[in-house]
Amino acid sequence: MNIPTITSIVTSFNEASDIKTITFTYPGDVSPGQFFMVWIPGVDEIPMSVSFATKTMKGITFRNVGDATLALYQLKKGDKIGIRGPYGNGFSLKGKHLLFVGGGTGIAMLALAIEQARKKKLKATVIIGAKTKNQLFFEGRMRQCGATVLVSTDDGSTGYKGYASELAKHVLKEKHIDAIYTCGPEQMMKTLLLYCKTIPFQASLERYMKCALGLCGQCCIGKGLRVCLDGPVFDGTVLKKIKDFGVYHRDASGRKILF
Ligand SMILES: Cc1cc2nc3c(=O)[nH]c(=O)nc-3n(C[C@H](O)[C@H](O)[C@H](O)COP(=O)(O)OP(=O)(O)OC[C@H]3O[C@@H](n4cnc5c(N)ncnc54)[C@H](O)[C@@H]3O)c2cc1C
Ligand code: FES
Repeated sequence: MNIPTITSIVTSFNEASDIKTITFTYPGDVSPGQFFMVWIPGVDEIPMSVSFATKTMKGITFRNVGDATLALYQLKKGDKIGIRGPYGNGFSLKGKHLLFVGGGTGIAMLALAIEQARKKKLKATVIIGAKTKNQLFFEGRMRQCGATVLVSTDDGSTGYKGYASELAKHVLKEKHIDAIYTCGPEQMMKTLLLYCKTIPFQASLERYMKCALGLCGQCCIGKGLRVCLDGPVFDGTVLKKIKDFGVYHRDASGRKILF
């Protein structure tokens, strides 16, 4: 499990501007919210949430933001990558009516959890937030599984004009929500946590990762929590005590970078 398995890309398709999903053969079970370490030979190895999963095939959905994701973006059917994992804890779904809030590529890591909620016949309201209309994705897929989908864009090009967290605040006023699940920009998730008050809350965090095995300490937050092993999904009760949450992350050298 900790040595990359070399596999070939089976499909590669555009989801939105600068966002692609690639699928590859990789057998085994995955819990919604877990991630893989994806090795792009000659470039880098990076963490990616599992956005698509069958018994034999898996998929990841990513935005082209730098060297590794650009290289992934340019790979074609038949090209080789290395996969290790799945790693991390994943979400635990509780309650009858769940609110999912995905900002940017965050909806990619929530997708399997939303589909699992619908399979369990739970009510799912999903907010997908993006900067603008052409960066939205998975809207159709989420509707198809029976979720109620609401969209927000920062520039108002479609859906609610404003941040996904603001739209969530309206939903929380209008509907009885039993639990909130989120992934996206950390300041958005921190704002949501403040709105939640007593509602159970789980958020998936992104930190720079190297080993993904809990050994190197690169992804530590708070007092010794490792995002790769103790997360990436953290409970609201834990996040409330973590000073770094929504404030800073660390780069490859360990230097603090303010959000
Ligand atoms: C658990 C987890 C799940 C993720 N899932 C997704 C996903 O489903 N879709 C998606 O688009 N992105 C996801 N990411 C973010 C993704 O890993 C980074 O965007 C990617 O590593 C950028 O690499 P790059 O070389 O293209 O960009 P770079 O130019 O290296 O960096 C661009 C940005 O990505 C960050 N980054 C670079 N390398 C890493 C690393 N090894 N670990 C974490 N962050 C890094 C940098 O700090 C910088 O902010 C996830 C991150 C984590 C930790
Ligand atoms: S990435 Fe090494 S401890 Fe988490």
